[in-house]
Amino acid sequence: MLGRDFLSVLDLSPAELEGVLDLALGMKRDGPGARSLRGQTLALIFEKPSLRTRTSFEMAMHRLGGHAIYLNAHEVQMGEREPVKDVARVLSRMVQAIAARTYAHQTVVDLAEWASVPVVNALSDEEHPCQALADLLTLRERFGNLGGVRLAYVGEGNNVARSLAYACKMTGAHLVVASPHGYELPPEVLARVEALPGEGRVTQVFDPHEGVRGAAAVYTDVWASMGFEHEIAQRREDFRGFQVDAALMASAPSDAIVMHDLPAHRGEEITDEVIESPRSVVFEQAENRMHAQQAVLALMLGAAL
Ligand code: CP
Ligand code: NVA
Repeated sequence: MLGRDFLSVLDLSPAELEGVLDLALGMKRDGPGARSLRGQTLALIFEKPSLRTRTSFEMAMHRLGGHAIYLNAHEVQMGEREPVKDVARVLSRMVQAIAARTYAHQTVVDLAEWASVPVVNALSDEEHPCQALADLLTLRERFGNLGGVRLAYVGEGNNVARSLAYACKMTGAHLVVASPHGYELPPEVLARVEALPGEGRVTQVFDPHEGVRGAAAVYTDVWASMGFEHEIAQRREDFRGFQVDAALMASAPSDAIVMHDLPAHRGEEITDEVIESPRSVVFEQAENRMHAQQAVLALMLGAAL
């Protein structure tokens, strides 16, 4: 990954993906060791709000001995105060890497094209690759090898679901996505999954109970992602029956764990009872954001051994 962008899970080979997870697990267990990003700085540009992503990137750089600078949307106004290509070239003169959270995926693509330093996608409308890494890390910790692990994702085929789909295919897991009609994974995503190397599988279903049957883990995400909040009234109608509640969990195996990338909207996509239950691993997922990104940054920026 040295010097390369990480805009999509598709930017990694299956071996690289496993390598990131191995390094993240090792760093979580032993700390960063002698790996050091001393003197290196990451710029964080966020067009959307964040708790986990910002904190985990800042802490990952801190733990590696480097530094992070947070730049909010109002400050930079990418594409308004100045063009994305200028932002990319200015930051490239001063920092060693850029992480960007954007509305349009094209913005991270443009940043990467014009930056001479590596760019990480910190969530776009298309993908959330760093979240997928943390989720796989959480599954690895629970189940060991991911081969054959069945993960049920109940919700929209959105940025989180797309990154998970690519990651599951490459690591041998079976992702079953259960969505209301009109909110399923787009056909081009399923086509990309098919073309990927790896023993995993991705299946789209439209019945949430069918989706969670036999699942080792049940995952959900918000019904309206950032930028789509104005559609929430319609979506509450459309997602009726897709709430991860006790009744839906009763269709899953009794030892299935519960996952959510957070922030969660209790009473919409998940009940308070389920997310607070002992099955829930949502805070392990959140912590694992830091460990996964620490591994990504170390590999990307060539942390000294
Ligand atoms: N899961 C996640 O990306 O959280 P934030 O939006 O708080 O960064
Ligand atoms: N799908 C959600 C994920 C938030 C971390 C969104 O894009 O808002």
